[in-house]
Amino acid sequence: MKKKLLAFLLMAAMLLSLVACGGNTTGNTGNTGNTGNTGNTGDSATNDTADTGDTGATEVANKDKPLVWFNRQPSNSSTGELDMNALTFNEDTYYVGFDANQGAELQGTMILDYIKANIDSIDKNGDGVIGYVLAIGDIGHNDSIARTRGVRSALGTAVEKDGAIDSTPVGTNVDGTSTYVQDGTLEINGTTYTVRELASQEMKNSAGATWDAATAGNAIGTWSASFGDQIDIVASNNDGMGMAMFNAWSKANGVPTFGYDANSDAVAAIAEGYGGTISQHADVQAYLTLRVLRNALDGVDIDTGIGTEDDAGNVLGSDVFYYDEATRSYYALNVAVTAENYEDFLDSTVTYAPVSNQLDASAHPEKSVWLNIYNAADNFLSATYQPLLQNYDDLLNLKVEYIGGDGQTEGNITNRLSNPSAYDAFAINMVKTDNAASYTTLLSQ
Ligand code: BGC
Repeated sequence: MKKKLLAFLLMAAMLLSLVACGGNTTGNTGNTGNTGNTGNTGDSATNDTADTGDTGATEVANKDKPLVWFNRQPSNSSTGELDMNALTFNEDTYYVGFDANQGAELQGTMILDYIKANIDSIDKNGDGVIGYVLAIGDIGHNDSIARTRGVRSALGTAVEKDGAIDSTPVGTNVDGTSTYVQDGTLEINGTTYTVRELASQEMKNSAGATWDAATAGNAIGTWSASFGDQIDIVASNNDGMGMAMFNAWSKANGVPTFGYDANSDAVAAIAEGYGGTISQHADVQAYLTLRVLRNALDGVDIDTGIGTEDDAGNVLGSDVFYYDEATRSYYALNVAVTAENYEDFLDSTVTYAPVSNQLDASAHPEKSVWLNIYNAADNFLSATYQPLLQNYDDLLNLKVEYIGGDGQTEGNITNRLSNPSAYDAFAINMVKTDNAASYTTLLSQ
């Protein structure tokens, strides 16, 4: 009887010490036999701090969290050279964008095809010169450079500089003397026409915001006032600027205007004489932006729900994207949107059907993502890309905090990344493609 009591008391004492020991080390079962309770403080610090509500007990350092760059590829804004340090920041870092060259070529061809099909009416003043003006988005942005080159190359106005097509804005070139471009020639139905880039300029406002629609609206006012009768075509690096010019001048004057992005308002305007636009498959890009984060957070193969069907049936075909392992970049493919097919593109915020299946919340629990849009006033990003992201975040069980920048200063955005530990992953849209380090430094602290 006494022995039993002694055994019971011993047991009780052991249990008590176990409870005391386990109190500051959640899940640290390996150490429970350690009555001295020394050496446990380090564990509790790494295990218990700043759990963001995810299921795992271990905290991931910010520098190791999944990171996706999107829309503006980390690169040198003068040379275009990719910033491989940023693209390989950690093993879960990717870029999501679209094939800028394929899209630029499509845009050029779309304009050329339009000229050929409408040759009888296009040369308004009948001087034998098909004149166009071009709105340039950002002279240091790959997409913008590619589109300027694409238009010049298709229309025969391109000149080479250092082995590549010069994409420098001409300012005005009504007399055809600019050295950044040349006059092109087109032979159509036995007649030879000259093609001239009458004017082009970077649409940057006084505060420094690029791709600026209001600036483009003003520019067409200035250009049309001095040589409006010579403008037969208006081309733009994007729809935001294209629509500003269309509404300010070309619609009323019956001058076909071409943009890029297939924003809903631009697609609708095709019914009213907007010449056409290019869809950069934002529905695929927005999906990829969040999907790579989802996959990295789930610890599954990065191709899941991308090239390989996931458990909900989501999969993308090779007709809409490709992945380049060397640059860790996903590129969506572009499609021309013209009078022939625009009715299929009227709402640019609809998710892409093959990847619109809801993920199961028990297998893919909610995670939190910090995401910024470099310029809350950018038409494409605010009217097309962000609404798409907001549709996909629900489907992928991601709780995304959207930060809208002013389009001018990186600090306006990085200031709002003061507590990266509160998020599981990051999606970044830089103001300037050279500035990746402003973000990675914050994540490395
Ligand atoms: C879009 C533009 C947009 C820019 C912002 C481009 O890909 O076509 O409309 O202004 O991205 O970075």
